[in-house]
Amino acid sequence: MERTFSIIKPDAVARNLQGEIMAMIQSAGLRIKGMKMIQLTKAQAEGFYAVHSARPFFGSLVEYMCSGPCVVMCLEGDNAVQKYRDLMGATNKDNAAEGTIRKKYALDIEKNSCHGSDGQDTAAVEIAYFFNALELVG
Ligand code: CMP
Repeated sequence: MERTFSIIKPDAVARNLQGEIMAMIQSAGLRIKGMKMIQLTKAQAEGFYAVHSARPFFGSLVEYMCSGPCVVMCLEGDNAVQKYRDLMGATNKDNAAEGTIRKKYALDIEKNSCHGSDGQDTAAVEIAYFFNALELVG
């Protein structure tokens, strides 16, 4: 069993797509171990995406991630990190495979509907950023 971290981003929550995206996640065999709807503060978004702080899109990304509520989840399953990355599709929807979350729902490269951890070490850090052990009950 492996865990990964997911955000259903503000563009998707604003369009009431969280249920459809969660259904795709569950259909792929991933279990929702922990979940909450939150609106990120600027400091939380900057901290979460600190690795991208030197990128030209950082300011816009932080502003967008704080623009409305999002759903953060800890997902669990066999090969969860790669399984969820495959389900999301490429960062840029134009490069995402048919049937993926981003191909179906992303608006552009920034407003791309979902985030998923890029590896197991990152997943552990990202899960701990939003959840304590008592909140991982699923
Ligand atoms: P995510 O997988 O959450 O990781 C970093 C985020 O930055 C990414 O999804 C997009 O929302 C955003 N992003 C990545 N590349 C770009 C880009 N070239 N221009 C604008 N936003 C980007």
